[in-house]
Amino acid sequence: MASYPLEVTSCVAEVIFISLSIYLVCMLFDKRPKSKRKDLFGEDYLLDSLLKQLNKKSGLIVIKGLRRTGKTSILKVALEESNMPYVLIDVRYAPYTDRRQFLDFLAKEIIKVLDKDIVSKIIKKISRVSLSLGKEYFKGSLDFDIKDDSDFLTVLREANKKNLILAFDEAQYLSGINFDMIIAGIYDNFPNIGVVLTGSEIGLLEDFLGKGNDKAPLYGRLYFELKPERFDPERTFAFLEAGFKQYNQKISKEEINQVIEEFDGVVGWHTYYGYLRCDENKNHLNALKIVAEIGSRTAYEEFERFLNTKKSRERYQKLMKLIMLGKSNWSQIKKEMLLRFGKISDSQLSKYLKDLLYHGFVEKSNEKYLITDPLLIKGIEQNIKF
Ligand SMILES: Nc1ncnc2c1ncn2[C@@H]1O[C@H](COP(=O)(O)OP(=O)(O)O)[C@@H](O)[C@H]1O
Ligand SMILES: [Mg+2]
Repeated sequence: MASYPLEVTSCVAEVIFISLSIYLVCMLFDKRPKSKRKDLFGEDYLLDSLLKQLNKKSGLIVIKGLRRTGKTSILKVALEESNMPYVLIDVRYAPYTDRRQFLDFLAKEIIKVLDKDIVSKIIKKISRVSLSLGKEYFKGSLDFDIKDDSDFLTVLREANKKNLILAFDEAQYLSGINFDMIIAGIYDNFPNIGVVLTGSEIGLLEDFLGKGNDKAPLYGRLYFELKPERFDPERTFAFLEAGFKQYNQKISKEEINQVIEEFDGVVGWHTYYGYLRCDENKNHLNALKIVAEIGSRTAYEEFERFLNTKKSRERYQKLMKLIMLGKSNWSQIKKEMLLRFGKISDSQLSKYLKDLLYHGFVEKSNEKYLITDPLLIKGIEQNIKF
């Protein structure tokens, strides 16, 4: 009988130990973008290259890649490790409707990471702010306004006296406020301010960078580029095994193979599957089903947001459906579009396809158009009917 409480105690101790070790060691299946190297599986090479560039302090760094391939995570880990003051803005959620508001918001974020002596100089130089208000500011108030580019340049000029990294996640959306001009200005004039841009909508990001357009502000500026890729099957295998090991759980080869087949190396979906298995105790089939359901809904909503900006929304939908059905080269797609929807010119079709490529919904490989995300394929299958 005496062993009963003992057993309970050791069992409790074991639970505490496991929970504690889960909490303390790296968590590969954490659903949020990672911010610690130990949580980021198999990206040491990219991370080290990024850090090396960040430590050079100046210039422009671009991280491009499909959605959910780890761009934000790599960026966050590198920024944390860089030991430099940095500002990271997710452009999709930044509170602004125009350029001035964005500059104001960004200046306030920058000021939060600068030394007090620099902040004090900035406040003195932004003339409309009285000195007494400037003193108050140090008690925590960020109550000042950037009225125009010139105020913003004042902030940058002072920030440039030390090091600073400005990182813009999903930066392609900054094209709406001509922020490329500001980045070109930083590139040319402020050697101690590094800029990092990420983007899932690769074509749009390249446009923003002025690719092939000598009128664009960033045209011709050299930048360092990183591209996290989908995991290959071996890497996915190792990732899932390592993640399960952290929870003292095992995953079978058959299960891993099925995950690879369903989610095709997109680490975001693999992570979510692992989270459901290990954190939410779902069984294999349930976890597969939930990732497929939620993932296809998420991926389709992203496509839907794109459609909402298009007049020819129906044509884009049908086009995606055709690609989903395996019509992958130009002539097949053109033939089917003509057959099903009547007239469509080559230039129109080119424009639609280019747009889908630009926004990262479709990839082109060996003259074939393919949908990039396995769960977007599911989303298209469910939501678009002929
Ligand atoms: N190398 C990695 N190891 C572990 N988890 C990762 C890795 N890369 C990405 N993730 C996970 O995948 C998901 C998507 O990552 P994220 O960095 O947001 O991708 P992106 O910015 O390209 O959309 C997140 O849950 C993140 O934690
Ligand atoms: Mg991201």
